[in-house]
Amino acid sequence: MRIKIVTGNITELAVDAIVVNLFDGVKTPGGATAAVDKALDGAISNLIAKGQIKGKLNETTLIHTLGKITPEMVLVVGLGKKKGFNAEKIRQVTATACKLLRGAGAKQVATIMHGAGAGGIAPPVAAQAITEGSLLGLYKFERHKSKRSDKKEIKELIIVEREQKGFTKLKAAVRKGTILAKASMLARDMVNQPSNFMTPTDMAEKAREIAGKWNLGIEILERDQMKELGMGGLLGVAQGSQQPPKFIILTYKGNENSKKTLGIVGKGLTFDSGGISIKPSAKMDEMKGDMAGGASVIAAMGAIGELKPKINVTGLIPATENLPSGTAYKPGDILKAMNGKTIEVLNTDAEGRLILADALSYANKQGLSPIVDIATLTGACQVALGDICTGAFGNNQRIIDKLIQAGEVAGERMWQMPMYDEYSELIKSSIADIKNTGGRGGGAITAAKFLAEFVGRTPWVHLDIAGTFLLEKDRDYFPRGATGIPVRTLVNLTLTMAEE
Ligand code: BES
Ligand code: MN
Ligand code: ZN
Repeated sequence: MRIKIVTGNITELAVDAIVVNLFDGVKTPGGATAAVDKALDGAISNLIAKGQIKGKLNETTLIHTLGKITPEMVLVVGLGKKKGFNAEKIRQVTATACKLLRGAGAKQVATIMHGAGAGGIAPPVAAQAITEGSLLGLYKFERHKSKRSDKKEIKELIIVEREQKGFTKLKAAVRKGTILAKASMLARDMVNQPSNFMTPTDMAEKAREIAGKWNLGIEILERDQMKELGMGGLLGVAQGSQQPPKFIILTYKGNENSKKTLGIVGKGLTFDSGGISIKPSAKMDEMKGDMAGGASVIAAMGAIGELKPKINVTGLIPATENLPSGTAYKPGDILKAMNGKTIEVLNTDAEGRLILADALSYANKQGLSPIVDIATLTGACQVALGDICTGAFGNNQRIIDKLIQAGEVAGERMWQMPMYDEYSELIKSSIADIKNTGGRGGGAITAAKFLAEFVGRTPWVHLDIAGTFLLEKDRDYFPRGATGIPVRTLVNLTLTMAEE
């Protein structure tokens, strides 16, 4: 779908459908909605008077124009209460509207800028949110269907602004929204791909492709180099698989005058069977998405390369499968991570922290700071927070706050979890430095405490996306399947850090 922004009168556009809106409880429409109402001889205000249109959030009313104006359909979307209206609600209503109109067979759609007038939202913010909501909401993953489920597709969305002033900023906002949404969709595609189409080698190829496109530095470490570096965690997990592990390094240099480089590290488990501590069969297929953290890093690096902020960023992705076999690592084995710490493996299904141990040690050795890691790390986090928000853990409140704020702006919510010292006691081992499980209680926190052993004193945040990387059912601009979380947060964080 193409997205265009124009100035003018929406009723005069030669499109199939136009989208207007109404806040909850408003009796006489204003702005562009009023203009459309007038052109339709008061059809909208009539429906309001009859109580058919109330303006509740995500409420939709489709009106056929019967030749009164060029567009065949007018869709009135409810924006909910004026108080508390924000960009996230714009994404939601835009996705709702676009999905409905796609179903109705519209190919060309025009929309007014929700919230930019009476809603008090800055016009560029509204334009970016409309762009993100429409692209993300209409996303489908149909690569493996021989026939497409439905040929209906919106070809073009035109955002209509009535005034000419500030138009350059609006165009930039649409561009930024497009880049962010496309990056999220790239991560979704990678996560939705099954493990036979997204092996560690495939991930490395994808990273190469993105690096080539946006002129990023790329290096891929093979098993021999991992051995030289002492990456015993990654090598241990990879031992049971026929697929060679890859350690992917992407670099973006946007500020030659700065010695600092932000590090983003993503878990790249292209399939997690649990290994010898094998998982139950039910929902094991979902573990094809256990590389969602790594996918989000590759996608965010691409967007950063395209947006070119004045900052240095390095993305690291340890990628492997976790499978049981005659060569697989076993419960009781002891592995030595790159920073020299020894780990007693009590459960081979707690593999994410083992590969991250090496990636975080590597990040630390490179002097990356701050470090953000993203991982589908624990079922415990999914139990604690569900699919509504991501768990955030860390050792530095300033960077945690910054990340949570970047997530809020993106509509990718995060909730901070505690990191009391007592949790560290639970991962002490009697025969090695630490063990890879801390028991059932506080499982997401003991996993984070495990990771903390490999970041030293570097400011660090860990995001556990086990609950949020995948949705079982559609939710506004998140169609079921991979969500692409937290790609837009990572890019937002990078942009704000570049401004500081
Ligand atoms: N990849 C899983 C965590 C997961 C579970 C992500 C469900 C998404 C949805 C991780 O590798 C894992 O298996 N964790 C174990 C750790 C346990 C053995 C300490 C878990 O959470 O059960
Ligand atoms: Mn596992
Ligand atoms: Zn896993």
